[in-house]
Amino acid sequence: MKLLLLAVAVLLLVASESAAERILSRRTKRELASPLHRGGIRDPFGSYCQRRGGCCPGRDDLCTVPYLDTICYCDLFCNRTVSDCCPDFWGHCLGIERPFIGTCERNGNKFFTGQTYKENCNLCTCGTVGRWECEQNACLIEPDVIHAINRGNYGWKAANYSQFYGMSLDEGIRYRLGTQRPSRTIMTMNEIQMNMDPEKDQLPRYFNSTEKWPGKIHEPLDQGNCAASWAFSTAAVASDRISIQSMGHMTPQLSPQNLISCDTRNQGGCAGGRIDGAWWYLRRRGVVTEECYPYRPPQQTPAEVGRCMMQSRSIGRGKRQATQHCPNTHNYQNDIYQSTPPYRLSSNEKEIMKEIMDNGPVQAIMEVHEDFFVYKSGIYKHTDVSFTKPPQYRKHGTHSIRITGWGEDRNFDGTSKKYWIAANSWGKNWGENGYFRIARGDNECEIEAFVIGVWGRITMEDMRNHHHHHNRRHI
Ligand SMILES: *[C@@H]1O[C@H](CO)[C@@H](O)[C@H](O)[C@H]1NC(C)=O
Ligand SMILES: *[C@@H]1O[C@H](CO)[C@@H](O)[C@H](O)[C@H]1NC(C)=O
Ligand SMILES: *[C@@H]1O[C@H](CO)[C@@H](O)[C@H](O)[C@H]1NC(C)=O
Repeated sequence: MKLLLLAVAVLLLVASESAAERILSRRTKRELASPLHRGGIRDPFGSYCQRRGGCCPGRDDLCTVPYLDTICYCDLFCNRTVSDCCPDFWGHCLGIERPFIGTCERNGNKFFTGQTYKENCNLCTCGTVGRWECEQNACLIEPDVIHAINRGNYGWKAANYSQFYGMSLDEGIRYRLGTQRPSRTIMTMNEIQMNMDPEKDQLPRYFNSTEKWPGKIHEPLDQGNCAASWAFSTAAVASDRISIQSMGHMTPQLSPQNLISCDTRNQGGCAGGRIDGAWWYLRRRGVVTEECYPYRPPQQTPAEVGRCMMQSRSIGRGKRQATQHCPNTHNYQNDIYQSTPPYRLSSNEKEIMKEIMDNGPVQAIMEVHEDFFVYKSGIYKHTDVSFTKPPQYRKHGTHSIRITGWGEDRNFDGTSKKYWIAANSWGKNWGENGYFRIARGDNECEIEAFVIGVWGRITMEDMRNHHHHHNRRHI
């Protein structure tokens, strides 16, 4: 009988153990948030558990006593977390000496073993010997990199961005880019032949799509912590091309969210995707505008893609119509926009320039290196400021962007520095109002290696219809 009872007791213990294990993380979080773990608090020795009238077995989250402006614990579980025990817990509940707790200093405040703080992207923990032990991740914002770039003569300036501060370099590459390198078959896709006539095709020193086509070049969006540049760059180039080609009869800003949530076959949503897949979707299914299907930046990482809220059906002659209302309450314009098949340009600088000048912005793939995140202004070139650091500080990932123009800056010595003007998708507070300039003609960061153009699918009928819509909205 006694044995049986013992067995039951053991079972209960095991059960409560594992239950405790499961909520351990929650309790730890609460501890970290309590003032006990912030400002340095002197330990006010005293009889807390004794005054409470005793100690509790196992884990009992109600077994607490007020302690300064928080609470401390008198349950035996507290022994495992050390830092949330009442000061007299060891003596009163266990009858042993209080274990040595190291203290660490920071900004004149004292912290105990197990307490933490975050320094940029690294968590620092007060160790048992009273020394801070910090993680050693490379951060997306490294102050010394910013200083080195701004002190050096690199041709561009760097800045701190609060939206990147506290992220690690790995996180930046994992959540802020998001274009898969095109497969070998796509990479060997035929380039279109352009017959440039050097006499006739005089290219200007400076060209800016926004000036040539006012009102038709869309402003950079912000992908947030969603690695979907594949969807943002595709939607942006298609938006500009449709606006230019329709001569401003339609100026849709196409919805990246429509692509992210609905173009899911072989695509990773906010975990990266392929531009050939995005173009396939734009051509075969089409997407609605950003106003109709607004972007929802993910609130957490890894990001969720969200259910697809827009479908289309064929209405003949390759045209399609939405079968659902816009997923919002104030916009009813659910026209579907489509593209023709995209075409690949050669990597020849002049041919890329001619294409932009004739037909509008192009899409390009680029390798983003650690220093690109802090770009603020000037003509970007990947620098060597991280070359002497350990390998985890030098990383890169594939991104896609939209090239909208080019130019040249004259140096003091009479030589000139050629650049592309390109739009990123990191919001308008990044770089030069969301744009950046990057060295042209040297395949900097492989930006000239894979460049794509496209036509919108527009008929005269579309132009009339949209003109109609437009007028109707105003009366
Ligand atoms: C409580 O912690 C002390 C010191 O770490 C340890 O020696 C003791 O065995 C623990 N007691 C229990 C009941 O876990
Ligand atoms: C960068 O910005 C963050 C948040 O805005 C700030 O806490 C940090 O001190 C800044 N770092 C540098 C090096 O300026
Ligand atoms: C391109 O033109 C726009 C509109 O005039 C202007 O705001 C922008 O600064 C120009 N970009 C460059 C790099 O010159």
